[in-house]
Amino acid sequence: MARFDVGYLVGSLASRSINRRLASALVKLAPADMALQEIPIRDLPLYSYDYDSDYPEVAKRFKEAITGVDAILFVTPEYNRSIPGALKNAIDWASRPYGQNAFTRKPSAVIGTSPGSIGTAVGQQHLRSILSFCNSPQMNAPEAYIQFTPDLISDDGQVSTESTAEFLKTFMAEFRVFIERVLTVLPRGG
Ligand code: FNR
Repeated sequence: MARFDVGYLVGSLASRSINRRLASALVKLAPADMALQEIPIRDLPLYSYDYDSDYPEVAKRFKEAITGVDAILFVTPEYNRSIPGALKNAIDWASRPYGQNAFTRKPSAVIGTSPGSIGTAVGQQHLRSILSFCNSPQMNAPEAYIQFTPDLISDDGQVSTESTAEFLKTFMAEFRVFIERVLTVLPRGG
């Protein structure tokens, strides 16, 4: 039985997303007692507070999925030195209506990959700022800025470089420790 249910959000909608490949690798490398499931963002309409009194089904399901897991893992590209609009839109949906923010007290971690040498570092800083406002306790370290090289991760999440696989494994193990720590002081449903 999984001890920790973790939902992951992939910030890219691209069919050949390298961040989706990274997410597949992380699922494989996670500790055995972490169950990871994707919480899809693709079908969400663009948020407006006009919906606050009556969320569409897709947004209700999305928000319930966030509420229902122990923690959230963000696996996202950097677009124009920030996060993709689709991901920001998804966060906006889950954070509203005012006073019903699904991220509050929900532990999170952030990781991403890019062909560029800074490996999504600037985009992640933007995301961290958003998550701070959303009152999500974030894992501070290890940080994970993954420079993607051709064939680093296959479509089904096999990592070709031993040192990268080890690093990603450590990242997930540390996230597990972090989630347990947060849930010790902020118990589920508390
Ligand atoms: C990019 N890319 C990019 N890369 C980066 O390191 N920093 C950046 O600011 C940007 N900006 C950016 C904007 C837009 C609109 C696109 C489409 C791309 C390149 C990006 O890292 C590359 O396309 C990755 O493949 C994106 O990850 P996914 O979508 O494949 O997971």
